[in-house]
This record gives sequence, C-alpha cells and structure tokens, in this order.
Amino acid sequence: MGGGPVEVLSSVDLDIKKGEFVTIMGPSGSGKSSLMNIIGCLDRPTEGSYSLNGVRVDSMDEDSLAAARNRNIGFVFQSFNLLARHTAIENVELPLFYAGIDGSEALAKEALKEVGLERRMKHRPNELSGGERQRVAIARAIVLNPPIILGDEPTGNLDSRTGKEIMALFDGLHAKGTTLILVTHDPNVAAYSQRVINIKDGKVVL
Ligand SMILES: Nc1ncnc2c1ncn2[C@@H]1O[C@H](COP(=O)(O)OP(=O)(O)OP(=O)(O)O)[C@@H](O)[C@H]1O
Ligand SMILES: [Mg+2]
Repeated sequence: MGGGPVEVLSSVDLDIKKGEFVTIMGPSGSGKSSLMNIIGCLDRPTEGSYSLNGVRVDSMDEDSLAAARNRNIGFVFQSFNLLARHTAIENVELPLFYAGIDGSEALAKEALKEVGLERRMKHRPNELSGGERQRVAIARAIVLNPPIILGDEPTGNLDSRTGKEIMALFDGLHAKGTTLILVTHDPNVAAYSQRVINIKDGKVVL
C-alpha cells in the first residue's frame, strides 16, 4: 500500500489440530485478521508454507484455493456481514446456492433451528437484534457442515450476555468435533478455548 511493502506477519510457526478450539489474541494491528485470512484461504502468504488437512495450499491458484475454502471453512465476522435486503433464511441459503446444492431451503431451516432462530426465518437483518444477526451468520457458516469455523471477533459487537449465548453456540460446535479458531480481545471468550495464541507485531509470542 502506498509507501511499499508492509511486513505484517513473520516467523509464524503454528500447528492447529483437528477438533481443537483455539483463540488468537493480540493488540490492534498485530496481524490477527491477516493471519485469519491466510488460515481461511482468503489470502496466501508471500513466503513460507501452509498446509490444510495435510495439503499445501500456499501455492494454489485462486480457483483451487476457493475450492479448499468452500469445502473446509465457515466464516463468522464481527459485523455479521449479512445481506440487508434478504431474509434470514435467504442469507443462510446463499452458500448452498453457490455450491449448487438442491433442497437448500430445508437445509437452511435446519441450520437456523440449530441456532435457535426457527421463529425468525422470514425476518430481515434490520428486524433482528445483534445476537440474532450473529446467529444467522453462524447458521450461514455451518450450513455446509464445514470441519473448520473461523471467527474474527464474533462477539465484538455484542453485549456480554448476548456474547455468552453466542459462545455457548460455538462451544456446542466444538463439542460436535468442529475445529474452532476465534480472534478475540475478550479474556472471557479466550477462557472457552483450549489454547490461546498470542500475536504481537506479526509474531507468535508465548
Ligand atoms: N491491505 C493492507 N495494506 C497494507 N497494510 C495492511 C493492509 N491490511 C492490513 N495492514 C497492516 O497490517 C497490520 C496488521 O493488520 P491486521 O488487520 O491483521 O491487524 P489486527 O491484529 O487484526 O488488528 P485489529 O485488532 O485492529 O483488528 C496493521 O499494521 C495494518 O495496518
Ligand atoms: Mg482484525
């Protein structure tokens, strides 16, 4: 950007096991989102290697990377990132539509039920509370049954009570075997995880 290359991550040596629940913590600007973008196959590292399920993804082309992402990873964001003009169920159906899967309505309903929103399916995001919006986003993330869920500050815009409800949902996903990687500033969120990865100035610190 502008003045030339910016080194954002370096010497990151990290192993996350299948089924693990880890949180990533660190000051603003330390590189957490950048690391999540690499883990989530949205970005590729300029150097080094990254294997997902034992397969090197750092040197894949865009299409293969997108395929690896769609097969493996569901995303949840701080600001929910729902489509404003679409209902809850339509938002959840979207990944199914892109994946070309039939019977998407039934699957979307099932996912919304799993997050306790079966009575809000026809509501648009502006007719839902923050916690409900995040539930829709979680339903969207799990509808394709990905083995890995990534969340970049998924409780960052929620009050503590609603945050706890969302964490209970994540906890349930972990209990069912999902690998969970969450970025958080909140020690209460980190307390749910099995391991905290601390990042400072683009490096993993102990
Ligand atoms: N597209 C970009 N071009 C140049 N620098 C960038 C770009 N995106 C991020 N950075 C820089 O990379 C560093 C890490 O950013 P990143 O978004 O990963 O931090 P973060 O730990 O997620 O911060 P926060 O807690 O505020 O979300 C920052 O110094 C940021 O300014
Ligand atoms: Mg960030």
